[in-house]
Amino acid sequence: MTEAKEAILLVGGKGTRLRPLTVHTPKPMVPAAGVPFLTHQLARARAAGVEHIVLATSYLAEVFEPHFGDGSSLGLHIEYVTEREPLGTGGAIRNVASRLASGPDEPVLIFNGDILTGLDIRALVTSHATSGADVSLHLTRVEDPRAFGLVPTDDTGRVTAFLEKPQTPEEIVTDQINAGAYIFRRSVIDTIPADRPVSVERETFPGLLASGAHLQGMVDSTYWLDLGTPQAFVRGSADLVLGRAPSPAVPGRCGDRLVLPTASVAADAKLSGGTVIGEGALIGAGARIDGSAVLAGAVVEPGAVITDSLVGAGARIGSRTVLAGAVVGDGAQVGADNELRDGVRIWCGATLPDASVRFSSDE
Ligand code: GTP
Repeated sequence: MTEAKEAILLVGGKGTRLRPLTVHTPKPMVPAAGVPFLTHQLARARAAGVEHIVLATSYLAEVFEPHFGDGSSLGLHIEYVTEREPLGTGGAIRNVASRLASGPDEPVLIFNGDILTGLDIRALVTSHATSGADVSLHLTRVEDPRAFGLVPTDDTGRVTAFLEKPQTPEEIVTDQINAGAYIFRRSVIDTIPADRPVSVERETFPGLLASGAHLQGMVDSTYWLDLGTPQAFVRGSADLVLGRAPSPAVPGRCGDRLVLPTASVAADAKLSGGTVIGEGALIGAGARIDGSAVLAGAVVEPGAVITDSLVGAGARIGSRTVLAGAVVGDGAQVGADNELRDGVRIWCGATLPDASVRFSSDE
């Protein structure tokens, strides 16, 4: 069997690092390159042969089904399972087991709902089948692994340890990290305890290893980004628009910019660096927007300069205002002549008067 027909997507996290984008919208539903981020993952799974997907939901669970329905518009059969209490990554996987049709030895694909990657899914399934592993993990290499879970392997790719968030140089024994995509032998899912929170990273994987199970790592160093923070989310959206991150779900041709059909952009506005302008958004004369995402219904007034930033749905950015590395929540009103930089987060619905925030000292 070199195809996984079923997948579980973990989409129930609170997405605290991404606030205020996740105040009204669960992280997987925040638009990236014009569609909810989850659409890209669903389309990539479908392209790799997956037919049945179970979404494990918790936080703001009610918004997924009205959008994706039974999945048929994506050529998929999608089911939804909502946890009564958040069960963590492992508990969420166990909680949807009854919806799987796969036999005990068949492979089930599992994805974190916030990873943008060009992973060769079929190659991971093939590696899983060839090695005969109980669980196979996509591993990627990063320069600074301190914020991640390290996964050292032996020279056959077999996992030898799980080391969470190492700090000292001695603890940093490898640059391979858990990239958030797994293949589980179906029967292994049934061994996760039911009805209590379980972390797959901190409990299930180390426990399996200790009990002698075979966990196999596959290093795939293609595009990989954890979209957990606003800066990463904006980067990921731009990379999708630019075509650096592959997805069959980008609604248009990849290039320097993507303007959704009902948006209106002034003729002399300049859009670059993978900028996306959402449905119904208005971009005024002379505005310059680079590497940014302007969500549906937002208004950017004339002469605003926006770089590496996200403007939430229905928000307004006043004339000549500068945004650089900023996030403006849904419906926020930023007056003219403000300067917002370096990770500032404007909350949903907040109002900032004209000329009230600057980073530089000019008049
Ligand atoms: P932060 O709060 O910013 O850390 O984000 P998060 O809540 O999404 O947590 P994290 O990034 O560690 O989660 C990894 C993946 O697991 C994401 O796709 C989450 O949606 C998902 N996830 C985390 N906790 C749960 C849970 O309790 N239930 C379900 N169904 N999914 C979860």
